[in-house]
Amino acid sequence: MNFDLIREHIARIPRVDLIVKPTPMTSAPNLARALCGDEGPQIFIKRDDLTSLALGGNKLRNLEFRLARTMAENPDTVIVGLDLQSNSARQTVGACNKLGLRTILVLEGAKPNVIQGNLLMDYLLGAEVHFAPNRHEQRSMLDALAAQVRAEGGRPHILNDNPMFDIASAVAYLETTLEMLEQLEAEGAEPTCFYMSSSGKGQAGLVLAQKLTGLDFAVHCVTATNEFDVPSRAAAIANASAEALGLDLRVSEADIVNFGGFVGERYGVPSDAGTEAVRLFARQEGVILDPVYTGKAAAGMVAHLREGRFGKEDVVVFVHTGGSPANFTWGDLWVGEAPLVARAI
Ligand SMILES: Cc1ncc(COP(=O)(O)O)c(C=O)c1O
Repeated sequence: MNFDLIREHIARIPRVDLIVKPTPMTSAPNLARALCGDEGPQIFIKRDDLTSLALGGNKLRNLEFRLARTMAENPDTVIVGLDLQSNSARQTVGACNKLGLRTILVLEGAKPNVIQGNLLMDYLLGAEVHFAPNRHEQRSMLDALAAQVRAEGGRPHILNDNPMFDIASAVAYLETTLEMLEQLEAEGAEPTCFYMSSSGKGQAGLVLAQKLTGLDFAVHCVTATNEFDVPSRAAAIANASAEALGLDLRVSEADIVNFGGFVGERYGVPSDAGTEAVRLFARQEGVILDPVYTGKAAAGMVAHLREGRFGKEDVVVFVHTGGSPANFTWGDLWVGEAPLVARAI
C-alpha cells in the first residue's frame, strides 16, 4: 500500500494538532565507528525526544489522538493517574495546557523530599499534583477528584478511562515510521532495522508499517519491563489498530521481535548495559538517552552491533522515544555520589 493511502486511513481517526512534525533524523557516524570500526552499518537516530512540547517524547504523538477523543466530551479538566516519575504525565500536562485544559495528576508514590525530573516539570507546567500510596487508592482518588470537580461545576475527564491509548500509540508510530522512511529516502538510505524501546504499543505501529508498505526492514524492539507478554500484546494492539483504521490486515505473534533480555534487575532500575549505552550515545553523539527506557533499548542495539549482526551495507535506525528528564533523578549514575531524590518511575 502506498504512503498516501495509508495516510488517508490514518486521517479517519480524529486528532488534535500538538507537535511539529517531522522530528529530526540525524546520522550517528561516531557511534557506528566506536562500535564497529570502519566495517559497521550506517546508524541514524530518530529524535522523537524532540517532539515540541514539555521536553518531548513519544507520548505526545499518541496524545494527538487520545485527546481528540477527550475533547469530543467537552471537558474543562483532565484527571490522570500515573507513576511518580512518569514521562507520560509530563507530556500529558503539556498537551492539556496547549488545549486549554486544567490537569490534575494522581501519581503513585510518596511525595519526595526533593522534587526533581518529570515530577518537577509537572509542577512547573502547573498541574495539580496528588500522591496515591498504591494503584487501588489511586483509582479511588481519581473518582473522588472527578466527583469534586463535578460538584464545583466543572467537567472532568478521567484519561485512564479513555479507550484510545493502545490504538493511538500504534497509529502514531505507524505514521512515525512513514515519516522515518521518507527522511531516510531523502538521505539515500534504505533501512535494514529499527530499534526502539517498547513493550508493545509503539511496536505495533512499526510492525503495521512493515506489513502495509511491504518494505524489507526488521523491527527490533526492546522492552523496559517484564510485566507483559509483549508478542501477544503487540499483535493484539496491531490488529485492533488495523480494524480502527479500516484496514484488512492480520498481525500474529510470530511477526513481533521484542527482546526481553535487557530489562536488567527490573523495570525502573538502571542496568549496567543500559548505563553504558547512555554514556556511549552522550559521548559519541551528544544525544541524551535515559536509564529507564531508551538506555536499555540502546543496550540491545549496541549488543547486536558488537556481535556483528550488521555490516557495511546495512542501515540501522534507533528511535529515541524521550525520557531524558529522568536523568535528573539519577545523578549518582553520572557523578558517582549518593542519590538525592526519590526516583521510582
Ligand atoms: C521514554 C519512553 N520510551 C518508550 C516507552 C514505551 O512505549 P510503549 O511501550 O508504549 O511502546 C515509554 C512509555 O512509557 C517511554 O516513556
